[in-house]
Amino acid sequence: MHNAPSFSAISQSEIWRALQAQAKQLKQRRLTDLFADGPLRARDFSLELPRFLLDYSKNPVDRPVFVNLLRLAQEAGVEQWRDDFFAGKPINVTEGRPVLHPALRGGLDADVEVDGVSVSEAVEVELQRLKELVVLLHNGDLTGCSGKRITNVVNLGVGGSHLGPQTVIEALRTHRKGDVAVHFVSNVDGAQLTDVLAGLDAESTLFIVSSKTFTTGETMTNARSALSWLQRAMPERPAEALLQQHFIGVTASPDKAQQFGILPERIYRFWDWVGGRYSLWSSIGLPIAIACGFDHFRALLDGAAEMDRHFREAPLAQNAPVILALLSVWNCSFMGYPAHAVLPYNQALHMLPAYLQQADMESNGKSTNRAGVEVDYATGPLIWGQTGINGQHAFYQYLHQSPEVVPADFIGTVAPGHELSGHHEVLLANMFAQSQALMNGVDAESVARELTAKGLSQEEIKRLTPFKVHRGGKPSNTILLKELDPRSLGALIALYEHKIFVQGVILQIYSFDQWGVELGKGLASKLESKLAAGDLTGEDGSTAQLIDYYRRVNGA
Ligand code: F6P
Repeated sequence: MHNAPSFSAISQSEIWRALQAQAKQLKQRRLTDLFADGPLRARDFSLELPRFLLDYSKNPVDRPVFVNLLRLAQEAGVEQWRDDFFAGKPINVTEGRPVLHPALRGGLDADVEVDGVSVSEAVEVELQRLKELVVLLHNGDLTGCSGKRITNVVNLGVGGSHLGPQTVIEALRTHRKGDVAVHFVSNVDGAQLTDVLAGLDAESTLFIVSSKTFTTGETMTNARSALSWLQRAMPERPAEALLQQHFIGVTASPDKAQQFGILPERIYRFWDWVGGRYSLWSSIGLPIAIACGFDHFRALLDGAAEMDRHFREAPLAQNAPVILALLSVWNCSFMGYPAHAVLPYNQALHMLPAYLQQADMESNGKSTNRAGVEVDYATGPLIWGQTGINGQHAFYQYLHQSPEVVPADFIGTVAPGHELSGHHEVLLANMFAQSQALMNGVDAESVARELTAKGLSQEEIKRLTPFKVHRGGKPSNTILLKELDPRSLGALIALYEHKIFVQGVILQIYSFDQWGVELGKGLASKLESKLAAGDLTGEDGSTAQLIDYYRRVNGA
């Protein structure tokens, strides 16, 4: 068991109550007034790190609130938990294991052993194996059954075995290497596999079955269909040979991959101490190394290790993940804003909202505290979003004028990542304008002035003004990266990982299990056979009706 200090509910602490009282006050204050109070507010509520500027000044916090939030972090034992995390203590208590994804990127300050094995040595061995495979692929030395060079790789995996690699490959579009195309199939909806395979030549296609457990129904169904596809294209080859030449396994359960028929030397390992949603730094990142080259994969790991160091060493008040976590706790649990938008102003980061949805919500979407008692406060927010520009023409109306307040992260880059002139200024001007508009809003007087200037009558002005008023006061953070290179991306993702961890520590929940997901998995596999057999016994009325309708329409 993790040797945590004796448990005392954080919501019963004095500091929690003090913050609740402050939240009542802050709700009465306008963000613009906070800026008027302190001329240096933007500077004081910002942090400049080597790869980015974090401006968190547009949040409903003043200095006394910020000081108390830091006290809350201390009271919650953030520093102790952080040290235990990096020391490899079993902080994933409900699953009884350590959480060591920083070890995958050299982010620990001392080596840790798990079951008597040096973690850093095991990691390095797998990294070297990945490197050798990537070199083989890029040199055209990896061939399929018929002797044809492998030119297409299809990653079969879902959740953490998919989102990280594809998010990173999309983000590093200017850092691609080699000519091997990488594709992703995550959905068990056969339409996705069908579409991806439609353009591919079986003889030159390699499948990566990416699954920590090697039991996930969706992934294993796709793997079996991939094998059938190969068999149809090469009927003269035995299944065994196809599995050996056209499949690679990436897993923490190598025995299961072997049982499936994958050669032991084609199985790339990671370990139980790597959570699925934190696994892109492990062998799960193989598609990244193939698409972007091993050196860029390494640079990604280095960037994340930089953030590990910052998180480990920076004082809480200047610690980017801690600050973001405190603001999230403040906005969600104290101010009562239950959602949080992720809005990248960089097309290459278009999958980041989906990636963070899993990272954050699968970690902190919990309601039981570490003592096993239901919490009496809101935990992690609902994370959603998409690229900012597209969002502006879709859901920003809600952000601007709905009565709900949705805090947001605006994420942009100083360097454009392309050579078209004029585009980047338009993009960034939009990003800055949106966070400004959300903060400032527009009051009735300004609306009236604007309409008067346009020559509208007093009557028209009176009629239109209520519709054009924007209350403002909508909080946001802005993360402005110098550029979107592998190191910066690694640092950005690790920033969010640590933010999520700190948030969980403060909220006193376990962030590294996902029992809710396991519940759905179990029910789906039970219903799969009932669907086929039309067995409705024991099902609730609605589920029985759905199965019945499906079978009737399907002619069963
Ligand atoms: O979504 C739940 C989950 O358990 C994730 O944590 C994991 O990333 C995903 O399923 C896939 O699991 P596996 O890698 O074992 O196939």
